[in-house]
Amino acid sequence: MIFIAGASGFVGGHLVDFLLSKGHKLKCLARSKKTITSLAEKGVEVVSGDITQAETLQGILRPDDMVIHLVGIIEEKGTATFKAVHVEGTKNLVKEAERAGVRHFFYQSALGADKSSWSGYLKTKAEAEEMVMQSNIPWTIFRPSLIIGPWDGFTKKIMDMLKFSPVIPLPGEGKALFQPIYINDWLRCIEKVLAAPELYAAIYDLVGPEHLTYRSIVETLSKEMGQRKPSFSIPMGFMKITTSILERFLPSPPVTSDQLRLLEQDNISAVDTISRNFGFEPITFSAALREFIR
Ligand SMILES: NC(=O)c1ccc[n+]([C@@H]2O[C@H](COP(=O)([O-])OP(=O)(O)OC[C@H]3O[C@@H](n4cnc5c(N)ncnc54)[C@H](OP(=O)(O)O)[C@@H]3O)[C@@H](O)[C@H]2O)c1
Repeated sequence: MIFIAGASGFVGGHLVDFLLSKGHKLKCLARSKKTITSLAEKGVEVVSGDITQAETLQGILRPDDMVIHLVGIIEEKGTATFKAVHVEGTKNLVKEAERAGVRHFFYQSALGADKSSWSGYLKTKAEAEEMVMQSNIPWTIFRPSLIIGPWDGFTKKIMDMLKFSPVIPLPGEGKALFQPIYINDWLRCIEKVLAAPELYAAIYDLVGPEHLTYRSIVETLSKEMGQRKPSFSIPMGFMKITTSILERFLPSPPVTSDQLRLLEQDNISAVDTISRNFGFEPITFSAALREFIR
């Protein structure tokens, strides 16, 4: 059985549909009534639980399970801190996986995960990776760059800006480099891991075939949508001060300080990473947009 934690998210939703279409049997973790119902309607076995609450995970895994851990947050809210969800949550799930003696443990980290990173997101992803690697279960870790596809939050934010804002702000100079990967290419990679997990016992960067600046990502989206808008740079220092003020007063600010840190630095890997490790050519950002934005 394949067990998925994070099945209701952007990546998890695509993975569930993909695996069901291939005839796999799935067991998914869910924590809200709405998610439990919608997953059950798809024919998935659902277990109710929250990875930050160890007691809800007790006994949910079996020795022949393959665990796919996709739970993650990009923004801290209340008790859902990076530490609680990424580090403590992963520790809880690894502990249950060890107790059950599962076949394999897949963890979705993030490109640039680093214990010394200034970003709480990247720092805690690295700490979670360590917990998976130190377990006594065979494991695979993916470190994806931005994953784009239908319903992804990043593309949607920029598309909304292009639709509704008269001008497009670019944090800093918009010069930092990214390497977006299309969700269907991510699915092709995990399909290979599921077919032969013993061949993929390592950490893999999951990246597209191009290094793109934030500015060129916005320009490509604008071209594909046929929505031309003027853009202007906002100095990063000014963005940081404004954001830290907004964070104090708004429950859900448009951008967080941690996300600004992620926009400030290059987040890339070699352009042939996927072809070398998974044996196929991932599609470009504009080709991916043409497949899904219309
Ligand atoms: N999307 C990207 O571009 C990208 C890039 C690199 C890495 N990643 C990583 O890939 C993973 C999936 O990303 P995504 O874009 O699909 O994220 P997402 O849409 O925000 O989904 C996150 C999932 O985690 C679940 N979750 C959050 N806290 C939980 C908790 N305490 N217990 C159980 N489930 C919990 C959510 O469930 P609810 O529905 O109940 O909230 C949801 O199913 C994350 O680990 C993310 O860091 C994503």
